[in-house]
Amino acid sequence: MSAKIDDVFMALAADHAARKDQRVADLFAKDPDRFTAFSARLDDLLLDFSKCSLTADTLALLLDLARAAGVEERREAMFAGVHINVTEDRAVLHTALRDPGTSPLNVDGQDVRADVAQVLAEMARFAEGIRSGTLKGWTGKPIADVVNIGIGGSDLGPAMATLALAPYHDGPRAHYVSNVDGAHLYDTIRDLDPASTLFIVASKTFTTQETMSNAASARAWLVEALGEQAVGNHFAAVSTALDKVAAFGIAPDRVFGFWDWVGGRYSVWSAIGLPVMLAVGPANFRRFLDGGHAVDVHFRHAPLEQNLPVLLGLVGIWHRDVCGYATRAVIPYDQHLSRLPAYFQQLDMESNGKRVTLEGKPVAYDTGPVMWGEPGTNGQHAFFQLIHQGTSPIPVEFLIAAHGHAEEKDPLLKRQHAMLIANCLAQSEALMRGRTEEVAKAQLLAAGRDEEAADRIAPHRVFPGSRPSVTIAYDKLDPYALGRIIALYEHRVFVEGTIWGINSFDQWGVELGKELANTLLPAVESGKPSDGLSASSAGLLQHLTAG
Ligand code: F6P
Repeated sequence: MSAKIDDVFMALAADHAARKDQRVADLFAKDPDRFTAFSARLDDLLLDFSKCSLTADTLALLLDLARAAGVEERREAMFAGVHINVTEDRAVLHTALRDPGTSPLNVDGQDVRADVAQVLAEMARFAEGIRSGTLKGWTGKPIADVVNIGIGGSDLGPAMATLALAPYHDGPRAHYVSNVDGAHLYDTIRDLDPASTLFIVASKTFTTQETMSNAASARAWLVEALGEQAVGNHFAAVSTALDKVAAFGIAPDRVFGFWDWVGGRYSVWSAIGLPVMLAVGPANFRRFLDGGHAVDVHFRHAPLEQNLPVLLGLVGIWHRDVCGYATRAVIPYDQHLSRLPAYFQQLDMESNGKRVTLEGKPVAYDTGPVMWGEPGTNGQHAFFQLIHQGTSPIPVEFLIAAHGHAEEKDPLLKRQHAMLIANCLAQSEALMRGRTEEVAKAQLLAAGRDEEAADRIAPHRVFPGSRPSVTIAYDKLDPYALGRIIALYEHRVFVEGTIWGINSFDQWGVELGKELANTLLPAVESGKPSDGLSASSAGLLQHLTAG
């Protein structure tokens, strides 16, 4: 980490300490233009961070930090296909998956644009065939159910996007199976008709234990019902490991490839998005890609001061490293975005949950915070108590659309969308404003409580306020809007990871547990502890395998 970065962090810490007791409400009172100064937009996509404790000086320092960390240079390197994923010696080019441009982009001697266009065309042909019923099951039935078998990036992205785009879903029903717990597969397929079911085996590596086990069980279920000869009509695969897919026995014209420069958690834009395309059709999938591309262009060319992913990343750094907040909540006031927090957990925590720099040295600052969330308004009736009155502030990121799809159907549902917006705004306003003890007491007295009761109860009704939140607003959750939201967060992860000087594109932290699970399986199956197990794990093993 450069001395310049350390200097800026020290200046930020001093700014924070000097303004420790400053209330965000006072910042608004002092500056009538605060909303304009601390918000940015890309068309209808608005990022409002005015309810955080930043001043113009803080923002200037944070922008210095971005420059000192080389965000602009590293961003260019990423877009150009440089191997910025140094530990795996790979380019990071998910942006190329959504770029409709045709001028060649050569990476390691290969024009990736041509490859992307070809796979997209193959996916569209296959999707149209299934959706129109020209590609049928073995017995001649059209495909009514698609079951995607994958985990992590090969599951969370398409599952999240399928739900997000439910109003556009006019293809076969979509199901997602990820867990190695056989209950997940069993519960999903037990009521399906094998003759009208298509399985997509989605795995970048085609070695992942969960996916391979579920795929083998699904294959056995299908063969039992329809015979070995039916497999070709009922399976497709998405992978970078085409040799391994061939060994599994899936016909080459049903295999959709992608490349090692697409990280698993960045792969929903690739052939991993096939189940989404099957659900909403190739044109809507293209709109999704276009939305992502619009944010890529903005991220690459907009000045840092107006750059949404840069600003969102800098607000994240302020909260994590200067204010010291260990978690952040993402709360979409959008039922269709129910799976977005889970998707962002992988995107953010697998990318930036790192403890050493690109050079392998311990990182000097706290890196990725815990990211968690649930949709609003549900969260309000569950964990918002802690966000309002708990002892540790939790920055909240609200997402809200100006218009919902349901409101087009019915005036009562239109009113419900107004309620949704009112609740979203009310939460960020309440977090920011808070309520003093004097006000709490006055309210109790006005409600008829006596002096003793008002004094006793008032402290419980105090809200500290100045609790930070960001609001991301958009017109309506269509495929284009979804693409923009996902790309916004992807680049935010990039900005934060660059400032911390870490590699946001590997995931070695998942390896050790995987290795041990493989070693432990024979012990679980035989009931005999393997050498080197701790007394705790040996005891647990005995308890679980005794009967
Ligand atoms: O275990 C982590 C991980 O490697 C993720 O990064 C990835 O998205 C997931 O497993 C699934 O991997 P694959 O697509 O290779 O099956």
